Amino acid sequence: MASTTSLWPILLLITTASCAINRQAIVSRYNVTRTALIDNNTTPLQVGNGNFAYNVDNTGMQTFLPFNTLSSWAWHNDSLPENGNISDYHGVPMLTHGRNVSYDIPDPNLPEVSQWLIGNPNRINLGRIGLKYKGAALQAAQILNPVQELDVWNGVITSAFDIDGEAVKVITQGDFDSDSVVFRIESELVISGALEIELDFPYPPIHSTKYKYEVFVGVGVLEFSANFAPENQRADLPDTIRRRNSKGWNQYWSQGGFVDVTSSPNPKADELQRRIILSQYHVRVNSAADGQSPQESGLMNNGWYGKFHVEQVVWHNAHWCTWGRESHFDNVFPQLYETFLPSSLERAKLMGWEGARWPKMTETITGRSSPGGINGLLLWQQPHPMYLAELRYKISPTKETLERWDRVLTATADYMASYAWLNETSGRYDLGPPRV
Ligand SMILES: *[C@@H]1O[C@H](CO)[C@@H](O)[C@H](O)[C@H]1NC(C)=O
Ligand SMILES: *[C@@H]1O[C@H](CO)[C@@H](O)[C@H](O)[C@H]1NC(C)=O
Ligand SMILES: *[C@@H]1O[C@H](CO)[C@@H](O)[C@H](O)[C@H]1NC(C)=O
Ligand SMILES: *[C@@H]1O[C@H](CO)[C@@H](O)[C@H](O)[C@H]1NC(C)=O
Ligand SMILES: *[C@@H]1O[C@H](CO)[C@@H](O)[C@H](O)[C@H]1NC(C)=O
Ligand SMILES: *[C@@H]1O[C@H](CO)[C@@H](O)[C@H](O)[C@H]1NC(C)=O
Repeated sequence: MASTTSLWPILLLITTASCAINRQAIVSRYNVTRTALIDNNTTPLQVGNGNFAYNVDNTGMQTFLPFNTLSSWAWHNDSLPENGNISDYHGVPMLTHGRNVSYDIPDPNLPEVSQWLIGNPNRINLGRIGLKYKGAALQAAQILNPVQELDVWNGVITSAFDIDGEAVKVITQGDFDSDSVVFRIESELVISGALEIELDFPYPPIHSTKYKYEVFVGVGVLEFSANFAPENQRADLPDTIRRRNSKGWNQYWSQGGFVDVTSSPNPKADELQRRIILSQYHVRVNSAADGQSPQESGLMNNGWYGKFHVEQVVWHNAHWCTWGRESHFDNVFPQLYETFLPSSLERAKLMGWEGARWPKMTETITGRSSPGGINGLLLWQQPHPMYLAELRYKISPTKETLERWDRVLTATADYMASYAWLNETSGRYDLGPPRV
């Protein structure tokens, strides 16, 4: 008996040792390295914090590909349409079990108004920061021997290249604590003044659902922080931001769940591991906003006018809970639904139902459900608060969790119960028609 007892600590030690994952070693295997000039305008590297992201080309800046700088907070309204008044739009009636219900569908009698409601407010690009050489735009053809690496563990992009035989090195980092990007640019060309920084501010955005650059109206260190904020605010020093951001990334990778498939003999394990790591980099940069969910293309470019889609919040944000990073989940839920609650209660009421009918394609300023043939009829976002609340409850199965979600869940349930229509022929409840 005595010898069995004394084995316990040894067994535990062995178990602990063989289970401990060297996260840094695994994460660091999947740095993104680029040794060719990218001419593909859909593949920037990114730094950012979920509310803000800065997208870079091979120069570690926005030099020859004018990638975007996007945030969760910078929105804009186009001029009002010339034909028609926004307040005349009331949706389009469709017969729904014997009564006319108005759905958020483009009104053929108010085409400009409908289009304006789809496209406003829209998210705007904050600006472009790039390199200028000898007073002119630096062309891709002038950038030789590019070697770029995103150090995933530390969140640092290092971009090296030559211009006219002179070496240039640019180090780019974001910040978790402010909407800033910091640069350190090392080159003889900075000292001679041949290499300069160019700032370019966009206006107005061109609206399309395809990837596009924004339109632009048209300083040698160099080390600087570029801080973007809705209100005047002093940027922290580059060194401060650099240190705290790398520390933030190290903490991010060290906390929450981690999947290690590196000892699998399956030849696909490496690619699976790469995707597990890089997708977590991406969600920290694009999917960790306060009180809102990302648009489909995150903070890389504007898809649907920068708006997001409420039926997609589960795959954009539920993972924070299942991966043990619930603070990011708590930054979004249930606040997002609470923001939409007044307009969603109103929407359901106008349509003749109880509770809250959640919007589809929207933003948190107006909560308006953007008119659309599918948008107006889509239903599968309605029960999502229940699923999300259940995920959160599994982590904290307390009365507080229930109370925190109560208003949102009750309004969700009230809507769903009143929306379902009892079909007396089949004896079942039908959803719609119409519905998508
Ligand atoms: C990734 O970057 C880190 C930091 O520079 C470095 O230590 C690591 O070796 C790199 N990984 C690879 C596979 O090169
Ligand atoms: C750009 O890269 C993406 C991802 O690799 C690829 O799907 C796309 O086809 C490329 N586009 C062009 C124009 O080469
Ligand atoms: C844009 O218009 C909406 C009303 O549709 C308003 O609530 C919002 O404050 C406006 N936003 C800006 C940035 O002007
Ligand atoms: C639009 O309609 C509202 C409500 O009827 C009215 O108060 C407003 O003056 C109208 N706006 C314009 C530009 O006609
Ligand atoms: C629904 O509205 C249409 C016109 O938009 C009207 O012709 C029809 O009679 C209405 N039906 C009911 C049941 O109110
Ligand atoms: C009721 O259900 C039956 C059987 O599924 C279906 O054929 C019928 O169209 C439904 N009635 C209505 C009004 O939707």
